[in-house]
Formats: sequence, C-alpha cells, structure tokens
Amino acid sequence: MSRVDNEIIFKHLTWRYACKKFDAAKKIREADWNILAETLRHSASSYGLQPWKFIVVQNPELRNELRNLSWGQSPVTDASHLVVLTYKEKMDEEHITRHINQTAKVQGSDPKNLDGYKNMMIGDLVKGPRSQIINFWAQRQCYIAMGSFLTTASLMEIDTLPMEGLDPAGYDKALGLEGTGYKTVAAIAC
Ligand SMILES: Cc1cc2nc3c(=O)[nH]c(=O)nc-3n(C[C@H](O)[C@H](O)[C@H](O)COP(=O)(O)O)c2cc1C
Repeated sequence: MSRVDNEIIFKHLTWRYACKKFDAAKKIREADWNILAETLRHSASSYGLQPWKFIVVQNPELRNELRNLSWGQSPVTDASHLVVLTYKEKMDEEHITRHINQTAKVQGSDPKNLDGYKNMMIGDLVKGPRSQIINFWAQRQCYIAMGSFLTTASLMEIDTLPMEGLDPAGYDKALGLEGTGYKTVAAIAC
C-alpha cells in the first residue's frame, strides 16, 4: 500500500464544499458507492460500539416526503444517494455482549477473557452517570461517521451536503423508526 501524497490530500480537502444543488441526472457509480458505504462501516466509535444505523433512502416517494420534512431542501430528492444517520437511543447489555462476542470471535479467544472490559463498558454507559446522557454520546458517534464520509467523498470528488436542517421526529415516523430504539440525528446528500 502506498500512502497518498500530502499535496493530493490538501487538494481534495480544499475541493470539498457543501453542495447546495445537485444534478438529479448524475448518479454515483456502484463501485464508488461501495467504498463510501465501507467508510461508514469502518468509522471509529467509542469502544467500537457503533451505536448507529445508517439508512440509505433511494425510494423517490419517500425522498419527496423527507424533502417536505427538510425545509424543502432540494438535495434530499435530487442527490444520487441520501444517507440518514440514526443513533441508538439507549445503550444496553445485549448490544455490548454482542460486541464482546464478535471481538472474541475475531481474536479467536473466549469471550470470558473480556469480562473485565465488558463490565467496564456496562459500568460506564449502561449503569454509570453517562447513561443519563447516552443519546448525546450516541449522536456524537454518528458525527464521527459523518466526518469520515465527507472526507472520503472529497477524495473521490463526490459532492456532499451534510444536513441538520430536518425534522428528526418527522423522519423517524416516515422511516418507520418509532419503537426500534433508533432515532434520526442528521443526513448526508451525496
Ligand atoms: C452538521 C452539519 C449540518 C449542516 N446542515 C445543513 C443543512 O441542513 N442545509 C444546508 O444547506 N447546509 C448545511 N450544512 C452545510 C454548512 O452550512 C456548510 O458546511 C458551511 O456553510 C460551510 O461551508 P463549506 O462546507 O462549503 O465549507 C451543514 C453542515 C454541517 C457540518
């Protein structure tokens, strides 16, 4: 693997801007989209807990509905892809246990060896003081993924618009998120 030149990185960082108007005829190539999707999947998160679900909305009727819930902003319907960033409202022992089991599987070790680590996470995020503000913690994790996505897209010269100008509760309803434990925090049109 060869590293990317500083000059090239800088060129792409300065190329990026918040794109306010998209050409509805332009579509992201599948191979490029796959890398962007991987960027979300590989994004860093606290303890690696990934308290999120990223929803790619491609249905035109649904995109129309979401546009009405986003101050009428045209990128919601006109961009090639719309990613809605949703966060896990509460952290729980089940999610943490799944993460521990997966970590142990990858390491080829017994999950029991990770009991101390597991209890530390539970003590911090499920039972500790941070559990009271865990929704803010989860939202922050989503913004790390958003930043990674914007940077990768800039390296690929793919236009993006990060979006907070939307009605999160309206999105939750339109996307059928109510009762799932996940809530909308922001979106990215690209
Ligand atoms: C988290 C976040 C949310 C944003 N939400 C919107 C939005 O809803 N609509 C919009 O037109 N721009 C939105 N923007 C774009 C900013 O207005 C834009 O990034 C800022 O003006 C700086 O311009 P630049 O990104 O071109 O450097 C958002 C940017 C961020 C980082």
